[in-house]
Order: sequence, then C-alpha cells, then structure tokens
Amino acid sequence: MNEMNDQEKPHMSDIDKTKIEKIIRDYMENDGNALTILQSVQETFGYLSFEVVEHLSEEIGIPLGKMYGIATFYAQFKFHQRGKYIIQICDGTACHVKGSMLLEEFITNELGIRPAETTTDKLFSLEKVSCFGCCAIAPVVFINKDVYGNLTPAKLRRILNKYRKMSIPMKKNRKVKKSKKVKKSKKVKKVKKVK
Ligand code: FES
Repeated sequence: MNEMNDQEKPHMSDIDKTKIEKIIRDYMENDGNALTILQSVQETFGYLSFEVVEHLSEEIGIPLGKMYGIATFYAQFKFHQRGKYIIQICDGTACHVKGSMLLEEFITNELGIRPAETTTDKLFSLEKVSCFGCCAIAPVVFINKDVYGNLTPAKLRRILNKYRKMSIPMKKNRKVKKSKKVKKSKKVKKVKKVK
C-alpha cells in the first residue's frame, strides 16, 4: 500500500514546471541557498524528487552532491509523495507515557497505515516525531500545521473525520449546486406553463 513502485515514483514530467521556474526565480532574486530552495520545493509539492533536485542543481549551479547531501541529511525532506494531510504523532517520553502508542494503534486500525506510510487515496500520511516541545499537553499530534493535545483515540477519530469532510465538500458542493439548478429550472418551467 505504501512503498512506491517505479511507476509511481515522481518524475520531472509530473511536476508543474511553471512552479519550479518561479521557485528558481525567487531563489535568484533573494540570494537564497540550497537549503531554502529545497524547502520551497518541498513546501510547494509536498516532497522532493531526484529529477527535480538534479534539475535545480543544473539551473542554479549548486553541485548535485551538495544538494543531495542536504536533502538526505535533514529529516524534513521526503523523497516520496505524501498525503494531503500529514499526521505527525509524537513519540517523545511524555507523549509515550500518556498513550501515544494507543493513538498510533488507532490510526493504523482506522486508516490502515503505519508510520512512513500513506493511505491509498493519498489523503493521510503518518509520521513519528521525537518531541514537539509541547509536552504539557501530551499526547500530541500535529496534522499539517494544526496542533492537537490531550488526545484520546475517540477525540482523534472526530478530528480525522473533520479532515475527511474537509476533503469532500468540493465534490458534494458541485452535486448540491447541480441539484439546486435542476430544481430551479423545473420551477421556471412550471411558472411558464401557468402563464
Ligand atoms: S514528548 Fe510529546 S511533545 Fe514532548
């Protein structure tokens, strides 16, 4: 479910080149460095691809070895596509004592993923982090930039449902709007008939 095969690996052709060009332009204009440009790519696309790193190296003239060195040194950089929502579960001592394992178990049962895995619908990824520095509200989970503390599996279930719903509205809204339009046009016809 979660290890990517060769066909699934991101390629340069999958990447929006206009966005890459913008990142390179910003880098040039702001006198950036290898770390900041890699961060921009990851922020924009959610992950780095080997082809993109090679492309950046050629375009901005930073040696490929140096770019790879940085990209593989920092844990923040990922070379695989992650879900829309990144669930980071704290596994530091305080969170561990307060039941982070139960939360992890719950996520595995609920979403079918373990740490470093992504759901097949690419909605959620699960990652483990050592300590967020907010141990007072342990156990803690981050979902993208949102922080949730004093969690229990029941609370986490409600939170996950919230994110699931947030990813549905576009489709649902379109359906609702469509059905409203249909009703409206029926009404118009009815009025016309009465005339
Ligand atoms: S141990 Fe989890 S936030 Fe510090």
